[in-house]
Amino acid sequence: MIQKLEMINICRSFPGILASDNVSLTIKSGEILGLLGENGAGKSTLMNILYGLITPDSGEIKIDGKNVFFSSSRDAIKARIGMVHQHFMLIPNHTVAENLALIDPQSSFFFPASGIRKRIEKLAETFGLKINPDAYIWQLSAGEQQRVEIIKTLLTGAEVIILDEPTSVLTPTEASELISIVKKMASDGHSIILITHKLDEIISCANRFVVMRQGKKTGELDNTNVDKSTLAKLMVGQDIEFPASKNTASSGEILFDVQNLNVQSDMSLPAVKNISFAILKGEILGIAGVSGNGQKELVQALTGLRKIQSGEVFFSGKRITDFSPRAIYQKGIAHIPEDRFRYGVSGNLTLNENAVLNKYFKKDNSWFGFLKNSNIRKHAESIVSDYNVAASSTDVSIKNLSGGNVQKFIVGRELKEDPQLLLAVHPTYGVDIGASNYIRNEFLKHREKGRAILLVSEDLEELFQIADRVAVIYRGEFKKILKTSETSVAEIGQIMTGA
Ligand SMILES: Nc1ncnc2c1ncn2[C@@H]1O[C@H](COP(=O)(O)OP(=O)(O)OP(=O)(O)O)[C@@H](O)[C@H]1O
Ligand SMILES: [Mg+2]
Repeated sequence: MIQKLEMINICRSFPGILASDNVSLTIKSGEILGLLGENGAGKSTLMNILYGLITPDSGEIKIDGKNVFFSSSRDAIKARIGMVHQHFMLIPNHTVAENLALIDPQSSFFFPASGIRKRIEKLAETFGLKINPDAYIWQLSAGEQQRVEIIKTLLTGAEVIILDEPTSVLTPTEASELISIVKKMASDGHSIILITHKLDEIISCANRFVVMRQGKKTGELDNTNVDKSTLAKLMVGQDIEFPASKNTASSGEILFDVQNLNVQSDMSLPAVKNISFAILKGEILGIAGVSGNGQKELVQALTGLRKIQSGEVFFSGKRITDFSPRAIYQKGIAHIPEDRFRYGVSGNLTLNENAVLNKYFKKDNSWFGFLKNSNIRKHAESIVSDYNVAASSTDVSIKNLSGGNVQKFIVGRELKEDPQLLLAVHPTYGVDIGASNYIRNEFLKHREKGRAILLVSEDLEELFQIADRVAVIYRGEFKKILKTSETSVAEIGQIMTGA
């Protein structure tokens, strides 16, 4: 087992940005280290260096006192370092078993996916990571894909395990299960580096914290008498403004009306079963549920991305069932998708281009087929400045932004359209504490203007902070719709598990 791993004076810059400015950290066998910091602080960069994906400009890495050099993640894996990424790195057209066989050193050349099945089942059992080995990756929800990523790392037998925001997409129950797995691995002598924006969670399990801000290490502390606000302050550099409590803004007028909706999954099984609900103007309706219970299919059907089997959808009294995604968008229904890199942005395009992805054809942005680049740039720059997106310029490819900054960009882009209805799926997933409070406050402001929001979230704290009512989805059905003022996190959590 690796006894001690050191990263010493690591520097790495990208054009216009010093992502890692002389950062050092050490981790010992059996330790859980919390790596914290705002979006864009440099956490993933530092860990990608440790995992061999990025080479540092300077600095060294030592394992048990010996210098190591990684020119690829293959080298890092050989050195028994494993990483679960913030963005899933699975092959969508392959099954779970095939994806895992690809990285499995023990897999055979012929029928590689067959031998791995037993080991997947064993891991699934030991760690409670339930997964269907025959499902295709593209059919899985974000939460399920995350489970596959975790199994993948466990299969390579890593001793230093980096988890980059592993619990962002998990439910409270799943997250606490993962935390107990992490603790189990640590007591076995593994070293765990955990990146998360969920401070309560990290305080409950880490031995030590390293805090980064703008590429620099701003703090290193032991887990004795550490509280949330101390850490938050080290991360953000100032006190945090939590979402203001809300007064009801609803006029009682129905904006969005969904009746007896039935939608199928990619496997042609019923995914949304006879769901009916209405959203009022000036209301935030939350949908709580474990990911994979039909949320994805429901929102895709409502945005025109998935066929509706039966049922009707009305918007401002007009029928919009089976309208195209663009027609629905132009009616005033915006969408913040779950998988931001697949549906939210186009990674290789610049921020300018991404800012107008869904409206480049409008007259502000184009003239007889020619794009009006200066208008587009102004628009992108206003999103960047209003939503505090850390980016060196709007001319860079959006895939170069840190995860949380991409999400802030999408939220800004959609809210700037001032949509009548916003369908938001995990809008603060991976977003740091300062920015997620900012987004939640923006949602409240949007609602105060009489607009409506459908908020799909697994973060119950978030739902209770800003939603007026919460619907609990379980196996494609709405089990209950309750006013947040008349229920509790415990009650909703219970219904989420099908109890
Ligand atoms: N390949 C790249 N090219 C250019 N800039 C990059 C690249 N990778 C990262 N950066 C920049 O480096 C900075 C640090 O990014 P990093 O992804 O490490 O942040 P992070 O702390 O992981 O943030 P988050 O919490 O949002 O995931 C960001 O400003 C980002 O835009
Ligand atoms: Mg990151």
